[in-house]
Amino acid sequence: MADKYDFGLVGLGVMGRNFILNVADNGFTAFGNDLDKEKVNALIEEGGDAAKVNASTDAVVFVEALSTPRKIMLLVPAGKVVDAVIEGLLPHLEEGDIIIDGGNSFFTDTDRREAYLKEKGINFFGAGVSGGAKGARKGPSIMPGGSRDAYQHVKPIFEAVAAKYKGEPCVAYLGPKSAGNYVKMVHNGIEYGLMQLTSEIYDLLKKAGGLTNEELHATFASWNAGRLQSFLVEITAEIFEQKDDLGDGHLVDKILDKAKQKGTGKWTSQNAMDLGIPIPTIDIAVSMREISALKQERIKADELYDRPTPESVVKDSLASKAEQALYFAFIMAYAQGMHQLADASKEYGYELDLGEIAKIWRAGCIIRAALLADITEAFKADAGLQNLLLSPSFVEKVKETVGATRELVAYGANSGIPLPGLSNALTYFDAYTSSRLPLNLIQAQRDYFGSHTYERIDKEGIFHTEWEE
Ligand code: 6PG
Repeated sequence: MADKYDFGLVGLGVMGRNFILNVADNGFTAFGNDLDKEKVNALIEEGGDAAKVNASTDAVVFVEALSTPRKIMLLVPAGKVVDAVIEGLLPHLEEGDIIIDGGNSFFTDTDRREAYLKEKGINFFGAGVSGGAKGARKGPSIMPGGSRDAYQHVKPIFEAVAAKYKGEPCVAYLGPKSAGNYVKMVHNGIEYGLMQLTSEIYDLLKKAGGLTNEELHATFASWNAGRLQSFLVEITAEIFEQKDDLGDGHLVDKILDKAKQKGTGKWTSQNAMDLGIPIPTIDIAVSMREISALKQERIKADELYDRPTPESVVKDSLASKAEQALYFAFIMAYAQGMHQLADASKEYGYELDLGEIAKIWRAGCIIRAALLADITEAFKADAGLQNLLLSPSFVEKVKETVGATRELVAYGANSGIPLPGLSNALTYFDAYTSSRLPLNLIQAQRDYFGSHTYERIDKEGIFHTEWEE
């Protein structure tokens, strides 16, 4: 056994095991802890050298094996398990020790835990980790929030294990309290948006253009070599190649069209509503997972209503328009997520640096994309940018792609192909860029039935009218 280990990790499931092996690969000694003996043994075996990676089912052995201040990361399911693990560790910890929750915990839970542990002299971090199992092993994007001073102890390890974008680590101190969890939550909201949009474009190419899985593979692969380059477009291309091991044909065609969710997308939408920040492309992505779950109802309803026959399209121009529309809508999803972060930063006192967040999303995480390099530049040029749509560099990108988006949204409506994410992205754009919206009528209605008052465009003050007289 090494003298004392540099880093501790509780929860040796796939993510935990991969993360701790990544820490060890980068020259730090690490000690794991899990109640499951098999997982402990599996890690010891895979680690190879107990002086570098070791583990125990015993929390006391685990805590005593670590150098101080102890740096203990939890990769356990969000919720009550996190509290239970903290309570189990607490009696054995010393002042100044650091606990890092690497799961997708709800941000107010992180605030509660941070305040509770602060009283006991323990530093608590909520650190979103993105990139799935492979990312945890080879380099995730890490989004830590908590005490800035305590972060200095964690920084060398996180910077070593994080994904690198052109040599720069995809991790940064993001802000106090739950800043890290909050940023990860919005990351996931954007993830939901991008995934929904990608699925709509797939539907369109398949139903309108009749593209085969081979053609879909080639189309997404070629997009991934251009401005749409991103992890999600890359894996989409690969998915269309996968043959079904259990039968004929391609696996994608055999997968039930009901998408599950663990809640982070929904939390993003719920909190955006609380903040009063519009993120319709993310909202609709959550709703679509809910509609997808209503499979039996959808089957019944499908029989009751006719669907228009898709209008004919030119296959070649369809793919090019789809590429433009996906690019346009991706921009809207990122713009909405960044807008939410800007507002949350003020509301919760996170003091987020949006350029820094875009920067650490450029590699390692699920929403990594070539676009994030442009988003980083946009916030570098103007740290106070309210919305990406106001950035001169994005005006050109949007102008160039909005026309094709309009055509496809109209095509989808006329052909009965649901494109809710795409049409939402477009209406968000049209509304956000309208200097005059018809909400004057809503104000008139509110004042009519409820004396809710209104403001005028030509005079200062608050007005009320007796409409019925
Ligand atoms: C990531 C992912 C990860 C997880 C999602 C899945 O960044 O690595 O976001 O955290 O895969 O939370 O979420 P759903 O189950 O809700 O789709």
